[in-house]
Amino acid sequence: PKKIIIDCDPGIDDALAITLAHGSPALEILGITTVGGNVGLEHTTGNALRLREFLGLREVPVVPGCAGALLRTPVNAASVHGEDGLGGAVLPEATLPADPRHAADFIIDTLRASPGEVTLVAIGPLTNVALALLREPRIVDWAREFAILGGSYTRGNFSPAAEFNIAADPEAAAIVFDAGWTVTTIGLDVSRQALAVGAVVDRMRAMGRLGADLLVPCVEFYGMVTAEEGPAIHDACAIAYLIDPSLLDVEPALVQVETAGRFTSGMTVTHFDLGDRVPNALVGTGLDVTRFWDLLLGVYDDVARR
Ligand code: BDR
Ligand code: CA
Repeated sequence: PKKIIIDCDPGIDDALAITLAHGSPALEILGITTVGGNVGLEHTTGNALRLREFLGLREVPVVPGCAGALLRTPVNAASVHGEDGLGGAVLPEATLPADPRHAADFIIDTLRASPGEVTLVAIGPLTNVALALLREPRIVDWAREFAILGGSYTRGNFSPAAEFNIAADPEAAAIVFDAGWTVTTIGLDVSRQALAVGAVVDRMRAMGRLGADLLVPCVEFYGMVTAEEGPAIHDACAIAYLIDPSLLDVEPALVQVETAGRFTSGMTVTHFDLGDRVPNALVGTGLDVTRFWDLLLGVYDDVARR
Protein backbone atom coordinates (compact mmCIF):
# COMPACT_ATOMS: atom_id res chain seq x y z
CA PRO A 1 0.00 0.00 0.00
CA LYS A 2 0.86 3.69 -0.44
CA LYS A 3 2.18 5.07 2.85
CA ILE A 4 0.56 8.38 3.76
CA ILE A 5 0.61 11.11 6.38
CA ILE A 6 -2.73 12.90 6.72
CA ASP A 7 -2.51 16.52 7.87
CA CYS A 8 -6.02 17.54 8.87
CA ASP A 9 -8.47 19.61 10.95
CA PRO A 10 -11.34 17.24 11.77
CA GLY A 11 -13.85 18.46 10.81
CA ILE A 12 -16.73 16.37 9.47
CA ASP A 13 -15.35 15.71 6.00
CA ASP A 14 -11.87 15.19 7.47
CA ALA A 15 -13.32 12.40 9.64
CA LEU A 16 -14.98 10.84 6.58
CA ALA A 17 -11.68 11.14 4.67
CA ILE A 18 -9.69 9.49 7.47
CA THR A 19 -12.24 6.67 7.60
CA LEU A 20 -11.81 6.15 3.86
CA ALA A 21 -8.01 6.13 4.11
CA HIS A 22 -8.13 3.70 7.02
CA GLY A 23 -10.49 1.30 5.27
CA SER A 24 -8.77 1.24 1.89
CA PRO A 25 -6.25 -1.57 1.35
CA ALA A 26 -4.47 0.76 -1.09
CA LEU A 27 -3.30 3.08 1.72
CA GLU A 28 -1.39 2.75 4.97
CA ILE A 29 -1.66 5.68 7.40
CA LEU A 30 1.71 6.41 9.05
CA GLY A 31 0.46 9.34 11.08
CA ILE A 32 -2.30 11.88 11.51
CA THR A 33 -1.12 15.44 12.11
CA THR A 34 -3.57 18.08 13.25
CA VAL A 35 -3.87 21.81 12.66
CA GLY A 36 -6.28 24.49 13.83
CA GLY A 37 -8.86 25.12 11.12
CA ASN A 38 -12.51 24.11 11.12
CA VAL A 39 -12.33 24.38 14.91
CA GLY A 40 -9.49 25.09 17.32
CA LEU A 41 -6.48 22.79 17.61
CA GLU A 42 -7.64 21.31 20.91
CA HIS A 43 -10.82 20.14 19.19
CA THR A 44 -9.22 18.97 15.92
CA THR A 45 -6.67 16.99 17.95
CA GLY A 46 -9.33 15.65 20.33
CA ASN A 47 -11.45 14.54 17.39
CA ALA A 48 -8.49 12.84 15.72
CA LEU A 49 -7.72 11.02 18.98
CA ARG A 50 -11.30 9.84 19.42
CA LEU A 51 -11.61 8.83 15.80
CA ARG A 52 -8.35 6.87 16.00
CA GLU A 53 -9.70 4.68 18.77
CA PHE A 54 -13.19 4.45 17.32
CA LEU A 55 -11.68 3.08 14.10
CA GLY A 56 -9.22 0.82 15.93
CA LEU A 57 -6.11 2.62 14.67
CA ARG A 58 -4.31 2.51 17.99
CA GLU A 59 -0.81 2.28 16.50
CA VAL A 60 -1.11 5.39 14.35
CA PRO A 61 0.36 8.50 16.00
CA VAL A 62 -1.81 11.60 16.28
CA VAL A 63 0.54 14.58 16.30
CA PRO A 64 -0.70 18.11 17.02
CA GLY A 65 0.75 21.06 15.14
CA CYS A 66 -0.04 24.73 14.68
CA ALA A 67 -3.05 26.26 16.41
CA GLY A 68 -3.51 29.07 13.91
CA ALA A 69 -2.18 30.74 10.80
CA LEU A 70 1.48 31.76 10.46
CA LEU A 71 0.70 35.47 10.39
CA ARG A 72 -3.03 36.01 10.65
CA THR A 73 -5.74 35.93 13.25
CA PRO A 74 -7.25 32.42 13.42
CA VAL A 75 -10.56 31.82 11.63
CA ASN A 76 -12.81 28.78 11.97
CA ALA A 77 -15.76 27.03 10.38
CA ALA A 78 -17.61 26.00 13.56
CA SER A 79 -20.84 27.18 11.93
CA VAL A 80 -20.43 24.38 9.38
CA HIS A 81 -18.84 21.63 11.51
CA GLY A 82 -20.37 22.36 14.94
CA GLU A 83 -18.65 23.79 18.01
CA ASP A 84 -16.75 20.53 18.62
CA GLY A 85 -16.05 19.95 14.94
CA LEU A 86 -17.82 16.65 14.33
CA GLY A 87 -21.37 17.88 13.94
CA GLY A 88 -23.78 15.60 15.77
CA ALA A 89 -21.33 12.72 16.23
CA VAL A 90 -20.38 11.98 19.84
CA LEU A 91 -17.51 9.49 19.92
CA PRO A 92 -16.26 7.94 23.18
CA GLU A 93 -13.48 9.79 25.00
CA ALA A 94 -9.99 8.82 23.88
CA THR A 95 -7.83 6.85 26.28
CA LEU A 96 -4.52 7.18 24.45
CA PRO A 97 -2.58 10.47 24.43
CA ALA A 98 -1.39 12.58 21.53
CA ASP A 99 2.19 12.18 20.33
CA PRO A 100 4.53 14.65 22.08
CA ARG A 101 6.29 15.77 18.89
CA HIS A 102 5.21 18.76 16.79
CA ALA A 103 3.39 17.95 13.56
CA ALA A 104 5.99 19.79 11.46
CA ASP A 105 8.81 17.73 12.97
CA PHE A 106 6.85 14.50 12.56
CA ILE A 107 6.32 15.32 8.87
CA ILE A 108 10.02 16.10 8.37
CA ASP A 109 11.27 13.05 10.26
CA THR A 110 8.87 10.63 8.61
CA LEU A 111 9.68 11.86 5.09
CA ARG A 112 13.42 11.90 5.85
CA ALA A 113 13.32 8.31 7.09
CA SER A 114 11.97 6.92 3.78
CA PRO A 115 12.81 9.25 0.89
CA GLY A 116 10.55 8.73 -2.13
CA GLU A 117 8.17 6.45 -0.28
CA VAL A 118 5.75 8.56 1.73
CA THR A 119 2.86 10.62 0.37
CA LEU A 120 1.78 13.71 2.29
CA VAL A 121 -1.85 14.75 1.99
CA ALA A 122 -3.16 17.95 3.60
CA ILE A 123 -6.90 18.42 4.05
CA GLY A 124 -6.83 21.44 6.35
CA PRO A 125 -5.13 24.84 6.33
CA LEU A 126 -1.51 24.50 5.17
CA THR A 127 0.18 25.92 8.28
CA ASN A 128 1.92 22.70 9.42
CA VAL A 129 3.19 21.91 5.93
CA ALA A 130 4.53 25.45 5.45
CA LEU A 131 6.30 25.31 8.80
CA ALA A 132 7.83 21.95 7.87
CA LEU A 133 9.04 23.44 4.56
CA LEU A 134 10.56 26.44 6.34
CA ARG A 135 12.41 24.15 8.74
CA GLU A 136 13.46 21.56 6.17
CA PRO A 137 13.07 22.50 2.48
CA ARG A 138 14.36 19.07 1.41
CA ILE A 139 11.01 17.47 2.24
CA VAL A 140 10.11 18.59 -1.30
CA ASP A 141 12.50 15.94 -2.60
CA TRP A 142 11.71 13.33 0.03
CA ALA A 143 7.93 13.25 -0.42
CA ARG A 144 6.71 10.68 -2.91
CA GLU A 145 3.72 12.85 -3.70
CA PHE A 146 2.02 15.84 -2.11
CA ALA A 147 -1.72 16.38 -2.45
CA ILE A 148 -4.18 18.80 -0.91
CA LEU A 149 -7.87 19.44 -0.68
CA GLY A 150 -7.91 23.15 -1.20
CA GLY A 151 -8.44 26.04 -3.54
CA SER A 152 -10.80 26.63 -6.40
CA TYR A 153 -10.36 28.05 -9.87
CA THR A 154 -14.00 29.08 -10.12
CA ARG A 155 -15.65 30.22 -6.89
CA GLY A 156 -14.76 29.98 -3.23
CA ASN A 157 -16.67 29.02 -0.09
CA PHE A 158 -14.90 31.19 2.49
CA SER A 159 -15.46 34.15 0.17
CA PRO A 160 -16.48 34.39 -3.47
CA ALA A 161 -12.76 34.32 -4.28
CA ALA A 162 -11.28 31.88 -1.80
CA GLU A 163 -11.66 28.36 -0.50
CA PHE A 164 -11.49 27.85 3.30
CA ASN A 165 -8.23 25.88 3.66
CA ILE A 166 -6.30 28.44 1.62
CA ALA A 167 -8.10 31.50 3.03
CA ALA A 168 -7.42 30.34 6.61
CA ASP A 169 -3.67 30.75 6.04
CA PRO A 170 -2.83 32.32 2.67
CA GLU A 171 0.83 32.92 3.54
CA ALA A 172 1.28 29.25 4.40
CA ALA A 173 -0.44 28.24 1.16
CA ALA A 174 1.83 30.57 -0.84
CA ILE A 175 4.90 28.97 0.76
CA VAL A 176 3.56 25.52 -0.06
CA PHE A 177 2.74 26.28 -3.71
CA ASP A 178 6.07 28.07 -4.25
CA ALA A 179 8.20 25.30 -2.69
CA GLY A 180 9.33 23.65 -5.92
CA TRP A 181 7.27 20.47 -5.83
CA THR A 182 4.11 19.56 -7.68
CA VAL A 183 1.02 20.15 -5.58
CA THR A 184 -1.81 17.84 -6.56
CA THR A 185 -4.61 20.29 -5.95
CA ILE A 186 -8.08 18.89 -5.49
CA GLY A 187 -10.30 21.91 -5.05
CA LEU A 188 -13.93 22.84 -4.77
CA ASP A 189 -14.43 22.59 -8.53
CA VAL A 190 -14.17 18.84 -8.06
CA SER A 191 -15.27 18.30 -4.47
CA ARG A 192 -18.54 20.19 -4.93
CA GLN A 193 -19.65 17.30 -7.12
CA ALA A 194 -19.27 14.80 -4.26
CA LEU A 195 -22.64 15.49 -2.66
CA ALA A 196 -23.90 13.06 -0.04
CA VAL A 197 -27.46 12.92 -1.37
CA GLY A 198 -30.30 11.02 0.30
CA ALA A 199 -29.49 7.66 -1.30
CA VAL A 200 -25.93 7.91 0.04
CA VAL A 201 -27.11 8.66 3.57
CA ASP A 202 -29.53 5.69 3.35
CA ARG A 203 -26.60 3.40 2.56
CA MET A 204 -24.71 4.82 5.55
CA ARG A 205 -27.70 4.23 7.79
CA ALA A 206 -27.37 0.50 7.13
CA MET A 207 -23.74 0.41 8.34
CA GLY A 208 -24.19 -0.51 12.00
CA ARG A 209 -22.22 1.45 14.58
CA LEU A 210 -20.02 3.10 11.96
CA GLY A 211 -23.13 4.55 10.36
CA ALA A 212 -25.08 5.31 13.51
CA ASP A 213 -22.26 6.81 15.60
CA LEU A 214 -20.15 8.53 12.97
CA LEU A 215 -21.23 8.72 9.36
CA VAL A 216 -24.90 9.61 9.66
CA PRO A 217 -24.66 12.21 12.47
CA CYS A 218 -21.75 13.82 10.65
CA VAL A 219 -23.42 13.99 7.27
CA GLU A 220 -26.85 15.00 8.58
CA PHE A 221 -25.38 17.91 10.55
CA TYR A 222 -23.29 18.97 7.56
CA GLY A 223 -26.35 18.74 5.36
CA MET A 224 -28.38 21.10 7.54
CA VAL A 225 -25.98 23.94 6.91
CA THR A 226 -25.45 23.57 3.18
CA ALA A 227 -27.91 24.67 0.55
CA GLU A 228 -27.23 21.90 -1.98
CA GLU A 229 -29.10 18.56 -2.30
CA GLY A 230 -26.58 17.17 0.17
CA PRO A 231 -23.29 18.19 1.75
CA ALA A 232 -20.09 18.01 -0.28
CA ILE A 233 -17.64 15.53 1.23
CA HIS A 234 -14.64 17.62 0.13
CA ASP A 235 -11.72 16.03 1.94
CA ALA A 236 -12.59 12.48 0.90
CA CYS A 237 -11.97 13.52 -2.73
CA ALA A 238 -8.25 14.01 -2.06
CA ILE A 239 -8.02 10.60 -0.41
CA ALA A 240 -10.02 9.01 -3.23
CA TYR A 241 -7.50 10.42 -5.70
CA LEU A 242 -4.63 8.75 -3.82
CA ILE A 243 -6.49 5.44 -3.82
CA ASP A 244 -7.44 5.57 -7.50
CA PRO A 245 -6.14 8.51 -9.55
CA SER A 246 -8.37 7.46 -12.46
CA LEU A 247 -11.40 8.79 -10.52
CA LEU A 248 -10.31 12.34 -11.23
CA ASP A 249 -9.13 14.35 -14.21
CA VAL A 250 -6.14 16.54 -13.43
CA GLU A 251 -4.39 19.16 -15.51
CA PRO A 252 -1.04 20.89 -15.03
CA ALA A 253 -1.29 24.53 -14.05
CA LEU A 254 0.52 27.33 -12.29
CA VAL A 255 -1.32 28.17 -9.07
CA GLN A 256 -0.52 31.47 -7.38
CA VAL A 257 -2.00 32.29 -3.98
CA GLU A 258 -3.29 35.82 -3.43
CA THR A 259 -1.93 37.13 -0.14
CA ALA A 260 -2.34 40.86 -0.71
CA GLY A 261 -5.89 41.22 -1.98
CA ARG A 262 -8.29 43.33 0.03
CA PHE A 263 -11.26 41.25 -1.09
CA THR A 264 -9.58 38.24 -2.66
CA SER A 265 -7.12 37.06 -0.02
CA GLY A 266 -6.59 33.30 -0.29
CA MET A 267 -7.69 33.12 -3.92
CA THR A 268 -5.89 30.42 -5.92
CA VAL A 269 -5.18 32.14 -9.23
CA THR A 270 -4.89 29.18 -11.59
CA HIS A 271 -3.16 29.45 -14.96
CA PHE A 272 -4.11 26.50 -17.17
CA ASP A 273 -2.83 28.43 -20.18
CA LEU A 274 0.77 28.09 -19.22
CA GLY A 275 2.58 29.93 -22.03
CA ASP A 276 6.11 30.36 -20.66
CA ARG A 277 5.00 29.70 -17.10
CA VAL A 278 6.28 26.70 -15.21
CA PRO A 279 3.49 24.60 -13.67
CA ASN A 280 3.60 23.91 -9.93
CA ALA A 281 0.37 21.96 -9.63
CA LEU A 282 -1.79 19.21 -11.03
CA VAL A 283 -5.26 20.63 -10.60
CA GLY A 284 -8.37 18.47 -10.36
CA THR A 285 -10.88 19.35 -13.06
CA GLY A 286 -13.31 16.45 -13.06
CA LEU A 287 -14.65 13.67 -10.86
CA ASP A 288 -16.29 10.39 -11.80
CA VAL A 289 -19.08 10.81 -9.26
CA THR A 290 -20.59 7.33 -9.61
CA ARG A 291 -17.26 5.56 -9.15
CA PHE A 292 -16.35 7.91 -6.29
CA TRP A 293 -19.42 6.84 -4.30
CA ASP A 294 -18.91 3.20 -5.24
CA LEU A 295 -15.41 3.40 -3.78
CA LEU A 296 -16.35 5.34 -0.66
CA LEU A 297 -19.41 3.31 0.28
CA GLY A 298 -17.69 0.03 -0.56
CA VAL A 299 -14.81 0.86 1.76
CA TYR A 300 -17.19 2.04 4.50
CA ASP A 301 -19.11 -1.23 4.18
CA ASP A 302 -15.85 -3.13 4.78
CA VAL A 303 -14.98 -0.96 7.79
CA ALA A 304 -18.48 -1.44 9.22
CA ARG A 305 -18.16 -5.23 8.97
CA ARG A 306 -14.80 -5.41 10.80
C1 BDR B 1 -12.45 22.47 3.29
O1 BDR B 1 -12.75 23.38 4.36
C2 BDR B 1 -13.08 22.67 5.51
O2 BDR B 1 -14.19 23.25 6.14
C3 BDR B 1 -13.34 21.25 5.10
O3 BDR B 1 -12.96 20.35 6.13
C4 BDR B 1 -12.49 21.08 3.88
O4 BDR B 1 -11.16 20.69 4.23
C5 BDR B 1 -13.45 22.71 2.18
O5 BDR B 1 -13.36 24.03 1.76
CA1 CA C 1 -10.63 19.75 6.35
